[in-house]
Amino acid sequence: MKNKGLLATVAVLVLVLVGYGLFQGGKNAGKASENASSSETAADKHYSVGVLQLMSHPALDQIYEGIKEGLAAEGLEEGKNLTLHFQNGQGDQSKLNTMSQQLIKDKSEVLVGIATPAAQALDNNVKNKDIPIVLGAVTDPKGADLVASNEAPGANITGVSDQPPVEEIIELAHKLLPEAKKVGMLYASSEANSKFQIEKASEKAKELGLEVVNKPVSSTNEVAQTVQILAKEVDFVFIPLDNTIANAMETVAQEAEKQQLPIFPSVETMVEQGGVATIGISQKELGVQTGKMAAQIAKGEADPATTAIYTFAKGETIINRQLAETLGIQLTDELTKEARFTD
Ligand code: TRP
Repeated sequence: MKNKGLLATVAVLVLVLVGYGLFQGGKNAGKASENASSSETAADKHYSVGVLQLMSHPALDQIYEGIKEGLAAEGLEEGKNLTLHFQNGQGDQSKLNTMSQQLIKDKSEVLVGIATPAAQALDNNVKNKDIPIVLGAVTDPKGADLVASNEAPGANITGVSDQPPVEEIIELAHKLLPEAKKVGMLYASSEANSKFQIEKASEKAKELGLEVVNKPVSSTNEVAQTVQILAKEVDFVFIPLDNTIANAMETVAQEAEKQQLPIFPSVETMVEQGGVATIGISQKELGVQTGKMAAQIAKGEADPATTAIYTFAKGETIINRQLAETLGIQLTDELTKEARFTD
């Protein structure tokens, strides 16, 4: 009797399992025929994604974290169905090139470039435009010669632009420092992303009656001295999303503090490091969006040529309250209500 009972249980179990298997098979067959280009089913497929990050600074590191989250949100996970090749160029152009070649050799099916120079290096090394490239936080994809247009990129490249609301940041600075007459623009002459932002910021500043002093640097080495010079010439400094300056933000903050010079950067991480305030876009969110796009392209669900560059509609006001107080900056109630504080 006992054995019979066991047998019956096993038989039922087998039936259930076989039935479930058939059902799943049917579902997957349906999926496969929906997506005629992929010969394997989504559950079987293993993906390979290569990421090239320009350098380590806090904002880019957050973007990379977001990318991994975005890939996972679309079902691509390391240790399961994803091999993630990661390279960090440490801001060195020749490293960016050899690392791009390495990622291609690794047979990455989709490449992700974090920051403009990294994306440009990938583009230069994918000779026949035969590997899709996803831009992770490239401010001006068209200006950097990476796409035909933001709406219709046209080839193997699409991605996410992190264009910050630079005009609003200048307006915010003007509101917080109503007596200011001169603004300094601190950026690297080599970065295409900065050129675009500086043009827009300068236009707004002039519209508000501010005099603009441009101070491009050619490397991190010039940053400390440039901030000292700016402190003598201007009332506050604007910094765009510039990797060279982001990488030297500790130095900028140190020199600015000595001279009581207010700094308005374009990202929260740089407010945390010693900027006064900004209107910024979440770097993590930028990364998540980039990761999702990369996954959709890897799965064959999106085609870079016809996928518009993703841009964020609205930034968030972020204020370093302690620093604002030290500098004697008054925060209005209205501003206090809408802002988030880093401290
Ligand atoms: N937008 C920059 C580029 O195109 C990269 C970037 C993203 C960045 N977030 C940043 C630079 C924060 C400085 C600070 O290269």
